[in-house]
Parts: sequence; C-alpha cells; structure tokens
Amino acid sequence: MGDDAEALAELGFQVTAFDISPTAIAWCCQRFPASKVHYQVADLFKPEPTWQRGFDFVLESRTIQSLPLNLRTATIQAIAHLVAPDGILLVIARSRNSEAEPGGLLNGPPWPLSDAELSQFQALGLTEVHREEFRDETHQIAQWLIEYRA
Ligand SMILES: C[S@@+](CC[C@H](N)C(=O)[O-])C[C@H]1O[C@@H](n2cnc3c(N)ncnc32)[C@H](O)[C@@H]1O
Repeated sequence: MGDDAEALAELGFQVTAFDISPTAIAWCCQRFPASKVHYQVADLFKPEPTWQRGFDFVLESRTIQSLPLNLRTATIQAIAHLVAPDGILLVIARSRNSEAEPGGLLNGPPWPLSDAELSQFQALGLTEVHREEFRDETHQIAQWLIEYRA
C-alpha cells in the first residue's frame, strides 16, 4: 500500500512503484498525496521498454507467492529483467522446504516459494549474496529475505 515505496523515497531513492490494479495505485496516491514516489498502473508482464534492466534496486515483496504457480517462472523472469547491470534485487516471500507443489492450491494464495524456484534467479544471471530466514510475528510462518546482485 505504498509504505515500502515511501520508505525508499525517504532514503533518497527515486522510486517507481507499480501495480496492475488501478484501485491499489489510487489508494497509494490517496494515502500519500505529497509523495515523491512515481506510482503507476502497470503490468509486470508488459513492462515499459525503459524498465528492462532499468532499476538499480528492485524490491519484490510477496508478489511471486501471490500469483498462480503456472506463472511462477514467467514472474521470476519478469522481475529479474527489471534489475540493472550491477543492480540489487531484494526478494521477500514465504518459504517452503519441499519441491512438492505447495498445499492449498484450491484455497488461493499465498503459495510459498521453494529453493529450486528461487534458483531461477541465479540461472538468469543474478547472484545470491545474502539470505535470512525469519517468521512473521503474527502467524509464525516461515519467510525468506534474499538479496541478489546482478
Ligand atoms: C500480495 S500483494 C503484494 C503487495 C506488496 N508488495 C506487499 O508487500 O504488501 C500482490 C500485488 O501484486 C499485484 N499484481 C498482480 N499481478 C500483477 C501484475 N501482472 N503486474 C503488476 N502487479 C500485479 C496485485 O494487484 C497485488 O496488489
């Protein structure tokens, strides 16, 4: 809802924050009317040409896990392609410790990520430089925070 984008802008980044949902973007603009963040309605799978390898820092927080499994590879590719040469990608996601399909497919997202799925970032030329495992305070669900370098 814009909080991460605002925090990055406060740190001095020139931030583009996008979502396919016009409602979500309108809500961010309403929450932060004086924002320096460039909020934009956009489809991750149809990025603007200038976005290809266009960002020094990409924050992917809980989007991959929210999209259907048959889109997982395409989602990972689309995110990786946003990272500039020498750029940084930070991924925050629920984790699963098995390569079996995540349960609850019929119940809807989130569908946690596996190691093999994440290794696709490496296959796309990114190097994992840091990984933290943590559990969220409310539900104690296993999560990863992973930093990649292009
Ligand atoms: C679970 S939310 C993650 C929200 C936020 N990143 C966070 O950490 O709280 C997933 C978001 O991805 C958006 N989304 C789904 N498909 C998308 C697409 N193809 N392009 C851009 N955004 C998309 C949804 O509208 C939704 O707001």
